[in-house]
Amino acid sequence: MALFSRELGIDLGTMNSVIVEGSQVIVMEPTVAAIVNEDARKMVEWGQAARDMMGRVSESIDIVRPLQNGVIAEYSVTEGILKEMIKKAGATSFLGSTKIIITTPFGITSVERRAVEAVALSSAREVYLISQPISAALGVDLPIGTPSGNMLINLGGGTHQVAVLAMWDIVNANTAKTGGLAFDEAIISHLRKKFGVIIGQPTAEKIKINIGSAIRLNENKNMEIQGQDQVTGLPKPINVTTDDIVDALEQPLIDLVTLIRNTLEKTPPELISDIIDRGVALCGGGALLTGIDKYLTKALGIPAYLVDNPMTCTAEGASKAFGMRNVLKRSLIRV
Ligand SMILES: Nc1ncnc2c1ncn2[C@@H]1O[C@H](COP(=O)(O)OP(=O)(O)OP(=O)(O)O)[C@@H](O)[C@H]1O
Ligand SMILES: [Mg+2]
Repeated sequence: MALFSRELGIDLGTMNSVIVEGSQVIVMEPTVAAIVNEDARKMVEWGQAARDMMGRVSESIDIVRPLQNGVIAEYSVTEGILKEMIKKAGATSFLGSTKIIITTPFGITSVERRAVEAVALSSAREVYLISQPISAALGVDLPIGTPSGNMLINLGGGTHQVAVLAMWDIVNANTAKTGGLAFDEAIISHLRKKFGVIIGQPTAEKIKINIGSAIRLNENKNMEIQGQDQVTGLPKPINVTTDDIVDALEQPLIDLVTLIRNTLEKTPPELISDIIDRGVALCGGGALLTGIDKYLTKALGIPAYLVDNPMTCTAEGASKAFGMRNVLKRSLIRV
């Protein structure tokens, strides 16, 4: 690290935001803010502290996710969170010389991209944009500099991105504006239908992470949760099993397979045969869902595997891109 210049790779996600410097993850926080909803909408908490307040605060405080489906929905809140993250990274005093490479979802509109540019320029002197499939591929060391095809699937909280990469570029890709949050919604809806019970998103996510699976398991795990009776509004405990979650996730998983198939259909046959040889890399927090690698391997007929660093690879790749400016050329855009 040079004395007066900091080079940060930044991934602002719908659910989590990450800053990497060199190869170190230096900040990782939920992309959540607690906002006083009167006056000037002042941000009173952010990150994990704000996430912990979700569903537990009075009406005078809004708990917001300023990114939706990977794009900035509330500009000033996003700016506030990014400023706090950079402060936490200890780069504020270097603001005048901070350089950042920030990721954008594939398929973003020019208006959405300009919001990312503006938010980044408010916190750094030099800003570059990189598309998330490319930075994630760099972050997991896929050999994308060769003419052979590589496939990477990023299962985020608000997006599912499928990309085929070669020669440092995206050959073809698809983004669906749906992700892990839609899986949580499917769990909420299934449990309401099956048990007549209402639960919140944080509980649905906890169930998904603790006992959820894409496929039936030999051991049908279970978890006791407190819901709210749909009719009486009173607390109602229920016992949820892995099989309940497999059932709940059936449709969103079918939608994911359709997205991947659509991308494969538009991929030249030579590249498909490379992808069959190399397998499909799964990243993003959603790749941690139990059994999703086996599920996709079976549904696609192509081996799918979980990468080592699914939740941080996109930011790690952005940081790595600082040393690759000469090869990335068109894939790394100076703002
Ligand atoms: N063990 C797990 N099993 C299933 N899902 C998980 C697990 N761990 C995390 N997730 C899910 O991963 C998602 C968050 O992943 P990630 O941090 O990659 O998203 P993001 O980058 O913030 O979103 P996006 O890229 O769509 O903007 C959440 O929906 C979360 O529920
Ligand atoms: Mg992401």
